[in-house]
Amino acid sequence: MRTDTGRVVHLADYRPTDFVLERVDLTFELDPEDTKIESRLIFHRREGADPQAPLVLDGDELTLSGLLFDQIEMDADRYTATASSLTIRDLPAAEPFEVTVTTIINPTANTKLMGLFRSNGIYCTQCEAEGFRRITYFPDRPDVLAVYTVNIIADKEANPLLLSNGNFLGGAGYGDGKHFAAWFDPHPKPSYLFALVAGDLGLVEDTFTTVSGREVALKIYVEHGKEPRAAYAMDALKRSMKWDEEVFGREYDLDIFMVVAVSDFNMGAMENKGLNIFNDKYVLADPETATDQDYAYIEAIIAHEYFHNWTGNRITCRDWFQLCLKEGLTVFRDHEFSADQRSRAVKRIAEVRHLRSEQFPEDSGPLAHPVRPTKYREINNFYTTTVYEKGSEVTRMIATLLGRDGFKKGMDLYFDRHDGDAATVEDFVKCFEDANSVDLAQFSLWYNQAGTPQVTVSSAYDEKASTFTLSLEQVVAATPGQPTKEPMVIPLSFSLLSDDGTVLTPSSVEGGKVAGDVLQLVERSQTFVFQGIASRPVLSLNRGFSAPITLHYPQSKDDLAHIARHDSDLFSRWQAVTDLALPALTAAARNAASGAAVESDDALADVVVAIAADESLEPAFRAQVLALSSEADIARELGSNNDPDAIHAGRQTVLASIAAHGEQTFKTLFDTLNAAGSAYSPDAAGAGRRALRNSALLYLTFVEKSPARAAEAFAKADNMTDLSQALSILAHQFPDAEETRAALASFETRFADNALVMDKWFQIQATIPGDMALDRVNALLANPHFKGENPNRVRSLIGSFAFANPTGFNRKDGAAYDLLASQVLDIDGRNPQLAARLLTAMRSWRLLEPMRADKARNALMRIESAETLSVDVRDIIERMLQ
Ligand code: ARG
Ligand code: ZN
Repeated sequence: MRTDTGRVVHLADYRPTDFVLERVDLTFELDPEDTKIESRLIFHRREGADPQAPLVLDGDELTLSGLLFDQIEMDADRYTATASSLTIRDLPAAEPFEVTVTTIINPTANTKLMGLFRSNGIYCTQCEAEGFRRITYFPDRPDVLAVYTVNIIADKEANPLLLSNGNFLGGAGYGDGKHFAAWFDPHPKPSYLFALVAGDLGLVEDTFTTVSGREVALKIYVEHGKEPRAAYAMDALKRSMKWDEEVFGREYDLDIFMVVAVSDFNMGAMENKGLNIFNDKYVLADPETATDQDYAYIEAIIAHEYFHNWTGNRITCRDWFQLCLKEGLTVFRDHEFSADQRSRAVKRIAEVRHLRSEQFPEDSGPLAHPVRPTKYREINNFYTTTVYEKGSEVTRMIATLLGRDGFKKGMDLYFDRHDGDAATVEDFVKCFEDANSVDLAQFSLWYNQAGTPQVTVSSAYDEKASTFTLSLEQVVAATPGQPTKEPMVIPLSFSLLSDDGTVLTPSSVEGGKVAGDVLQLVERSQTFVFQGIASRPVLSLNRGFSAPITLHYPQSKDDLAHIARHDSDLFSRWQAVTDLALPALTAAARNAASGAAVESDDALADVVVAIAADESLEPAFRAQVLALSSEADIARELGSNNDPDAIHAGRQTVLASIAAHGEQTFKTLFDTLNAAGSAYSPDAAGAGRRALRNSALLYLTFVEKSPARAAEAFAKADNMTDLSQALSILAHQFPDAEETRAALASFETRFADNALVMDKWFQIQATIPGDMALDRVNALLANPHFKGENPNRVRSLIGSFAFANPTGFNRKDGAAYDLLASQVLDIDGRNPQLAARLLTAMRSWRLLEPMRADKARNALMRIESAETLSVDVRDIIERMLQ
């Protein structure tokens, strides 16, 4: 094997193809090891294209086994075939012609899980971003749209089911124990949306009647016996379809919509036209095996992939640099959907937590890139939280700036103007400009400038003049390839709270643009003066997290407590408590590092316990407050030179002091929220009660210093949420207790046959804090349940350890970095995408204290110097070490 270093692709080099693809006819003769694909392609030369230009088709690890030109075998001197391309010369200047390409591939040997592969005996495909070229030579780029007919021939007994995109045309016996099926997708699509599934699966069926009265057949395919676990996904699908009609005016456009769940999948799910393919983790759920979090993910991802039908499929991307055009927008749509289905404020808190813990570190480290990058070496490495989650935030800011109606006008124009197109970010932004007569040129920096803006704020109140003055300054740090930055448009939602918590409305504002309760920071520094403010206000800023920035606004504890009590925006109340708690957590970490005693902060404990006990607040919100900032959040606040052990120890002491303070409250919550008697329901209210009760349980273990209560909760749990929470508390707080050993063993025995539940068993153990985690992970790698070829299992053990166990992974001796390096190298040999993703767990290595950073660098250099590396891993490792 040679090491392919990959070619760098630049946005600036984009140009349309020389040939237009008119139609595609594919015939698959499926065989586990010798699948034959015949692909008939009809092209014509694009008007104005170079009449001499050859046709160049993409391939990846392919061998050509036949090539016809207009049905006749092509002369060998007219084409050149390599594993990665097929070049055909001397083609007609204007008239259409037909090329028939035959390839033979081995789906069973396809461990990269890109292209056509087998998962548990099921044939399935993953073509985004560049998987189709692993099936046949093809113009494999998103701006080549064509209508596809697909014929599938396969052994009938092993594959009663033969599926592809679009509508079913017909099927019949084929002799020799085989049968065939034909599918036709009338909607022109790029190859990355192609899908094929064959095998033997169970079916859950339903129907949906669209707003215009068309009946759509809904089919979810899962492994036999798992049908009951697809009910929630089906329900979520129907709610998604209805919501997209009501909120975005988008109706479904085929007679059938299918979802197939497979167990080996590199990502969450894929929006192939009419035939979504899912990681079964995001389809299968019942109370006994799925947590509330699992249900919420299923709802969100079913919605996400369904919403892609308009934002991604009907309007696709011109090139992969535009990935956020479909992903950022579709994440925004699924966030809005979940907010409407659940509690909007709690959903927003969870989104912001996720953004801060995943995207902010990416944006400030060696892998930082703009929401719309300008170059890539391996596009699969750009399916990032920056493209997805920050991309969603950018869309949200457009909505904030233009208001609900203005946003809707822009979206409607986008759907109208670009339906059927392969569009760009500029096309998208232009629709909002045209529909609202506004200029979004400066705003577009959000797509092009990487880095999280740091906004520093100071304020002053002048009683005599009744004015409140607000000075803001924005800085965006340098990121790879972008040493200097321009000032951005930062929409900041604000509220001026009076002493009694009412909102003060200024008579006028000078110094910049303010619309309603949103001010726009557009200069590097800018001062706003609010007139007619009769008493000293408490400013609540960036309410609802209106901009994805880091805010530096030193507010007094009293002011924060005031916001925490009075802001009408629940998100801001949560943020205020978080801001109150963070200094205590960072101080505790510093004290733990220096060996000083950690003082307990009674004022903080008062606020937290009061919120926990406040029956007027929804339980899910109270649970979010009790969760406090994570160790990663604290590390980020502390900046560089981090000692994860001190952060962990300090945080534990803060939790303990809140626990001691609120013991009675937590006991009451634990006892009264006991849902005994009421049947489990995965809805948001039930999930919120369980979340609050389980946080009370965690706090009580700090007071009781005994595993007894958690062990009892484990024994009594009647659903996976409570069971896995109790197990986590046992394992993480009492790793060596007999109760923990017994609970882990009983969990293992009970769920040995359920892969998704066993993933939790691995994950809980991989995240046990402390030095001993490494030995445990090593032992688990040798456990018979560990399956290195299953991405979910790899992520649950190695991924959880590296991403979510700060103390265990950052052992002082660097041994855990070595383990990750060895695993990355090993996994890279079969599944480069998965290996590259795991490696990003070390993206913030430079922020570690020097001893650990040194060890981390050594491990990374060992990867870099490996003899063979995939382009995927090479791209990440070189950027991380740059
Ligand atoms: N488009 C899919 C989704 O949003 C994800 C595909 C990821 N592909 C990849 N090569 N990483 O939901
Ligand atoms: Zn997506």
